[in-house]
Amino acid sequence: MIKGKLKVPGDKSISHRAVMLGAISKGTTYIKNFLTGADCISTISIFKKMGIDIEMENDFVVVKGRGLYGLKKPDTILDCGNSGTTTRLVSGILSAQPFTSVLTGDKSIQKRPMNRIIQPLSLMGADIKSNEGFAPLTITGKNLHGIEYNSPVASAQIKSAILLAGLYADSSTTVIEPAKSRDHTELMLQKFGANLTTEKKSVTINPCIELFANDIDVPSDISSAAFFMAAAILVPGSELILENVGINPTRDGIIRVLKDMGANIEIIKSTDEFEPVGDIKVSYSKLHATTIGGDIIPTLIDELPLLAAMAALAEGTTVIKDAAELKVKESNRIKVMCEELSKLGVNAVETKDGMEITGGSKIFGNITVNTYDDHRIAMTFAILNLVSDGEIKLDNKKCVEISYPEFFNDLKKVNI
Ligand code: S3P
Repeated sequence: MIKGKLKVPGDKSISHRAVMLGAISKGTTYIKNFLTGADCISTISIFKKMGIDIEMENDFVVVKGRGLYGLKKPDTILDCGNSGTTTRLVSGILSAQPFTSVLTGDKSIQKRPMNRIIQPLSLMGADIKSNEGFAPLTITGKNLHGIEYNSPVASAQIKSAILLAGLYADSSTTVIEPAKSRDHTELMLQKFGANLTTEKKSVTINPCIELFANDIDVPSDISSAAFFMAAAILVPGSELILENVGINPTRDGIIRVLKDMGANIEIIKSTDEFEPVGDIKVSYSKLHATTIGGDIIPTLIDELPLLAAMAALAEGTTVIKDAAELKVKESNRIKVMCEELSKLGVNAVETKDGMEITGGSKIFGNITVNTYDDHRIAMTFAILNLVSDGEIKLDNKKCVEISYPEFFNDLKKVNI
């Protein structure tokens, strides 16, 4: 049974942005509840290489910003590790610096599409050379111009790269998205003093003279909390409270979909100062199938592998569509989920932009799942292991360190 209270670590997206904006602001930024996962450590190490003094004590981080034009030319290649957010957002900043730098990352990063940022940043005047659209990226800073960009995909990484470059442009920059993606960059830029206006699916940033340091209290990551929501919903007799979770409406699609599937899930206490935050109470529920598609997709993009796994235990056939973006995440999450769920006896079929999963049958075990070194795939199957017939082993447990180093310990704590 899953019981008790749990506070999962800080939000990954917000932790990255706090370091980035802290680094290019005037003054000292204090960050509480920073996510110490490998991805956010990559962001810290990159800014240290560009002359920013950053100190970290457990999950408390102090960033001594050097202002919009204070970054120094790094002596070495900037290694983003496994982090797409680092690679893409930092590219926006580097496009305007008075030096040349090289960004790269691990095997997975070198396979993730970068033309999606190279193209708009080049329209702004950036000089970015790539390995045919993939990292390593060699970026030579230029004087940038404002653009109006109609993004073909709803992606906060694309939007944020352009907005960060827009800080340095000679006129305003607008990004229009097909559906609204997470708006953490916009909220934090406003907090740091940028002049920015948002509409339903578009955001405009004006050129900036200076950003000013701020204190950031990072909410717990809803994408990490989601694994424990799933555990409590799937394991009979469970009841769990997840504390201080970020429930920004551009991220809360998982809660909306789980309610729609019949889950007992409720926000019992909430505040909305900088980012909306709440305590979430969740208990064992019988689920039924649903259809997930359209504008909700960007609000739960990282939770779709987990929802696919939960669909395997819901009555009926769940359809996930409009989610082609899943193919270009840390792994091809459509292919991987369908292949690995099938090994467990689940009827899971790939479609052109999603998957169809028929639930209700037994989840077999006694197999080792191939995680493709993808943290979210590993945690998803660790949760299914709680309800499978035999043990589900993972070929790589360590990859959870990307976003949730204490995942297995926290799971032990609440699994009584
Ligand atoms: C992120 C945005 C999302 C998400 C990723 C983190 C961010 O990617 O999948 O884990 O911090 O901006 P896209 O915006 O490319 O969909």
